[in-house]
Amino acid sequence: MVSFASLFLVVSTAICALAGPSPNITARAGTPSSEGTHDGFFYSWWTDNGAQATYTNGAKGNYVITWGSGGNLVGGKGWNPGNNDRVITYTGSYQYNGNSYLAIYGWTRNPLIEYYIVENFGSYNPSSGASGKGTVTVDSAVYDMAQSTRTNQPSIDGTKTFQQYWSIRRNKRTGGTVDVGAHFRAWANAGMRLGTDHYYQIVACEGYHSSGTCNITVSDNSSGGSNPGTTPIPTQTTTTSVTAPSTTAPAGPLQTQYGQCGGQGWSGLTQCASPYTCNQVNQWYHQCS
Ligand SMILES: *[C@@H]1O[C@H](CO)[C@@H](O)[C@H](O)[C@H]1NC(C)=O
Ligand SMILES: *[C@@H]1O[C@H](CO)[C@@H](O)[C@H](O)[C@H]1NC(C)=O
Ligand SMILES: *[C@@H]1O[C@H](CO)[C@@H](O)[C@H](O)[C@H]1NC(C)=O
Repeated sequence: MVSFASLFLVVSTAICALAGPSPNITARAGTPSSEGTHDGFFYSWWTDNGAQATYTNGAKGNYVITWGSGGNLVGGKGWNPGNNDRVITYTGSYQYNGNSYLAIYGWTRNPLIEYYIVENFGSYNPSSGASGKGTVTVDSAVYDMAQSTRTNQPSIDGTKTFQQYWSIRRNKRTGGTVDVGAHFRAWANAGMRLGTDHYYQIVACEGYHSSGTCNITVSDNSSGGSNPGTTPIPTQTTTTSVTAPSTTAPAGPLQTQYGQCGGQGWSGLTQCASPYTCNQVNQWYHQCS
């Protein structure tokens, strides 16, 4: 899936002036995407204007997105900055037709990392273009962990090469409590260490050439969750190599340089031979490079 989130950051410098209560931000050609705060929560909204898409901030942690086919969009509410110990509860409804997902989503700096804890998704599993890093059981559910490299792609700091970290819930759901810190610790154990400085941390709804509706309400449940919020997460510094240790290299056949390793409909090899990583060229074609 295209990294919509990366894209929207490029245009997010135009912060929408949210003057009135519960404003609606309606996508149309030329309307800049925006991010800011609303009723005590941080929100982000990006659209490429290819879809008929409406983002509405509801009360407190609520937002509603409706979209039609044709483009890319992502939006959601949460917090800025994120942190290593937040327990997030979210409720709501999520209907989609096609390629879409619902995820806890955020960024860190030092180093620059884009991360997703995918709770539900449509026709495309975002792990198909990433390197598998094993599984983790959090909140009584199994998630597949994965990592991918984004090479010279848009980011919160402009065009950069950076890592994406993923947890993808096998048993999809819409609504529940996510111990975000448990994912972060599992990622660190798998060699996927977040940066020291968090940017935002939201529950996002994304669509890609699809249609759907999300009506999601987020809340911070850190005090009522399973994580006491005191566990330090190992982080990496800018001088630490992002390269995963060789002990995590997957067993089995590996794709060679320039070979296909993923994409919609791909059922062949998904792991790349060292030192190559699987990179998305487009929705249908991912290549070891
Ligand atoms: C936002 O959209 C909803 C649903 O269409 C509408 O009822 C409400 O009046 C709109 N609010 C603003 C501020 O335009
Ligand atoms: C916090 O999480 C627990 C466990 O999932 C849940 O029962 C409770 O309703 C949540 N509380 C809030 C305020 O979200
Ligand atoms: C979103 O869901 C809430 C809770 O079910 C509901 O009260 C609200 O009317 C919904 N908003 C829209 C715009 O459908």
